[in-house]
Amino acid sequence: MAGLFREEIIEEIRGRIDLVDFVGEYVNLRKQGNSFVGNCPFHADKTPSFHVTPENGLFYCFGCGVGGDLFSFVMKIDHLDFPQAVEKLARRAGVSLERELPGGAKQASADRLNRLREINREAALFFFRNLRGQEGKGARAYLQSRSVNEESQRLFALGYVPRGSNLLQLYLKQKGIETEEMLAAGLVIKRDDGTLIDRFRDRIMFPITDVRGRVVGFGGRLLGPGEPKYLNSPETKVFHKKSLLYGLHLALPVIRKEKSVILVEGYLDVIALHQHQIKNAVASLGTAFTPEHGRLIKRYAREVVILFDNDEAGRRATDRAIDIFREQGLNVKIASLPGAKDPDEFLQAYGRKAFLEALGKALPIIPYRLEQLKQEILLDEPGNKSVLLARLFPDLAKLTSQVERQEYIRLLAQELNLSEGAIWDDFRRNQGEQRRKYPLLRDKSPEIRNNTIGNKNVNSFRSPYLIAQENMLKVLVQEPALVTRVEEQLGSEVFADEKCREVFDLIKKLVAARPGEPVLTADLVHYAPETLKNFIAKLASAPDLPLGERQVEDTLNRLQLQYLTDQVEQRQKQIREAEEAKDSSGVQNLLQEISNLQRKIQSLK
Ligand code: GTP
Ligand code: MN
Repeated sequence: MAGLFREEIIEEIRGRIDLVDFVGEYVNLRKQGNSFVGNCPFHADKTPSFHVTPENGLFYCFGCGVGGDLFSFVMKIDHLDFPQAVEKLARRAGVSLERELPGGAKQASADRLNRLREINREAALFFFRNLRGQEGKGARAYLQSRSVNEESQRLFALGYVPRGSNLLQLYLKQKGIETEEMLAAGLVIKRDDGTLIDRFRDRIMFPITDVRGRVVGFGGRLLGPGEPKYLNSPETKVFHKKSLLYGLHLALPVIRKEKSVILVEGYLDVIALHQHQIKNAVASLGTAFTPEHGRLIKRYAREVVILFDNDEAGRRATDRAIDIFREQGLNVKIASLPGAKDPDEFLQAYGRKAFLEALGKALPIIPYRLEQLKQEILLDEPGNKSVLLARLFPDLAKLTSQVERQEYIRLLAQELNLSEGAIWDDFRRNQGEQRRKYPLLRDKSPEIRNNTIGNKNVNSFRSPYLIAQENMLKVLVQEPALVTRVEEQLGSEVFADEKCREVFDLIKKLVAARPGEPVLTADLVHYAPETLKNFIAKLASAPDLPLGERQVEDTLNRLQLQYLTDQVEQRQKQIREAEEAKDSSGVQNLLQEISNLQRKIQSLK
């Protein structure tokens, strides 16, 4: 059905309607971290289980498992089919659904994008002149009070839009720009009663450019306190928050030369850094960093230095950014600025030299985490060293180089006054546990949890899922008759690892071949192909488990959880692919599948 409409139109509608605003008309939403939560409109929801995530434009209810995007929301809430939902939303967004002739479509679309940029540039000019003129006096005073000098104001083409509901509209109209175009550029809003209003009123305007320096949108800051402090242009055909970086165009020459980018949180931080002649700073548009940002940076740089605000939110954002950029293979460092809330304040208070010193002390991921953890965890308390180490292990596990891992373990040994060997042992054991994912299972059956196959090979790190498969096999090797129960309860597909699957099939075959007769480990080894003999022997040589019902149940349970979690992860990966391919019905199907899986996971916990 989606084929009825051009994907661009769907995307344009999506870009023009803010999902949070829209859903907010039906559901009382409040902000929680990166998303918004409220009571689900689709089931009797006592706890707020309904989540809207503006970043990916999706909603999801953890209570009833309903989820999807803007279009599915309208379909469900208004009981519409897809074309009806598109029509409704197109009307609201002011998007025309008329089809275009195929000939020259591409050119037409390029022209449209250029036109959008042109309109944004006109608006930037209007804002800029306002700031320099009589109406801009207060705004200039404000910028001065923030130590943004005139040179910086000009360099970043800062502007001001006075109070008033249609100043920009009037200006753009004079320039021959149609209302529809102003709407498409996100500069003007159509209210529900059909009247038009400028999006930005009485704000300092920060033009946001693409990497080529073309204005594609704006951030607008209030001159004083109030909410929202910043207002940004909505997503448009040329304004994609997830792949734009504030200041990138200006920073590019230096980034190219130094192969290094400084990431800060705020527009004013970028400006302050430039003003202090540190010219490789960029910021996201107030949103979390995305893999697209990572790819963009990677085109020009090898290294990113994260320099976020000195508060809890900043540290959390740092953790997320670390993950994103590490995955992209960028060299990540983290700097911190003691005694100031953000880079802007630090520079104003302590100056350039102190700033460069702090920058020079930026730490790679593991030392950074170690410093953070040392502040959190008192090392003179017994047992706390291992608590600290356990928190560091996930980062150690993510290092791609074994040499690097070895170096850091050496460093940790020195810092914590432990032997390297002890840390290695703990690290390997920790990799076999699943505390993080399943805190509820943490205390269950330590016999099984710790009974990982001795693994002397430092190079092989086994995933919790693989370990769960092996543990199940260890039980089966001891008690092959349980194979029927495993088959019935879990199915053989839970053995995703090829070797494990072969062993499972072999046990199945032997048990089926001799109904009623016991199958011994020796038989298994005897009938196993050469390639499996070692593996089975290893499984069998694990210390005997006390094979009580509870242990068997736990092992089954754990394997099923790992299997389901793996399935969720696979689908999450597919969702990212589907999103990139703009396959929104694919995304919805996957969301649905994930919610089914998650229900199963919940019921197992
Ligand atoms: P100042 O507070 O004036 O120093 O500005 P700042 O740029 O340092 O802002 P801050 O550190 O508070 O926030 C960092 C960035 O988050 C800003 O530059 C904006 O991009 C974004 N941001 C902050 N507040 C809001 C808001 O209310 N709405 C939106 N959409 N974005 C915001
Ligand atoms: Mn600030």
